[in-house]
Amino acid sequence: MGINELILQSKLPLLETQLIMSFILKREVVFVVAHPDYSLSQGEVTSFEQMYTQRLAGRPLEYILGRKEFYGRDFAVNEDVLIPRPESEEIVDRVLSHIQDRITENNRGEFKIVDLGTGSGILAVTIALELKERFGSALSSVAITAVDVSGRALTVARRNAHKLGAGDNVRFVQGDLFSAVGDESFDIIVANLPYLPTTESRDNRFEPQSALDGGVDGNDLNNRLQHEYERYLNPGGVLVFEGYGGEIKVTRAVDAQ
Ligand SMILES: C[S@@+](CC[C@H](N)C(=O)[O-])C[C@H]1O[C@@H](n2cnc3c(N)ncnc32)[C@H](O)[C@@H]1O
Repeated sequence: MGINELILQSKLPLLETQLIMSFILKREVVFVVAHPDYSLSQGEVTSFEQMYTQRLAGRPLEYILGRKEFYGRDFAVNEDVLIPRPESEEIVDRVLSHIQDRITENNRGEFKIVDLGTGSGILAVTIALELKERFGSALSSVAITAVDVSGRALTVARRNAHKLGAGDNVRFVQGDLFSAVGDESFDIIVANLPYLPTTESRDNRFEPQSALDGGVDGNDLNNRLQHEYERYLNPGGVLVFEGYGGEIKVTRAVDAQ
């Protein structure tokens, strides 16, 4: 069967059909677009039909393809982790601008960073890579710790760190919020913890409830974070976290205000 025939039969949006095909054929989408008469093997047609059926049943495309772009990089995702949301990129922006300010304030270029609820590792890994690319030797030492209560999520996060070249820069720890880091304190705390009210999180049949459900009013985890962060934040430090609706909140250490 040819690419065009399958596209004409598909009930999915054109781009989704093309993305599935490009995945199966291991070619760029431009190849799919440019070769409408390309004939798929029986195995390729079967693979297409399986993925197509899953998508029609509502399974997110990101889980079907096993990837999602975040801050210009491809992260592996599966049902053990939240699918990264574009609004979370602002957390990275806030961290980078904080570091920019601190460097020019004659900071020694040493930063300890913790990412609470790392999931697929997008924040910890992106921050590690962006710091290397943008600041290079201006930073004498950066230590990043990524925490998640889910061991399965950490497996995905570790895989992403290695795949994207941040394997040596991020330490992964399983545990419940700050209990995972003992007595350590940090210059930057980032967090994207579950913040949906339980009833709303249940509407999502595909992503892990442990990544979505923030308790009856959605605030259980972020309330705990705001209650506990001060003793883990160094002078001059900053807490950057995501709240309901993707709102990014920034709280500076009290002594820095
Ligand atoms: C909303 S997801 C965010 C994942 C990722 N940081 C992102 O932005 O895409 C929340 C993550 O927090 C983790 N989590 C939930 N409760 C936690 C807790 N008490 N301590 C640490 N991590 C927790 C979940 O397993 C999940 O991976």
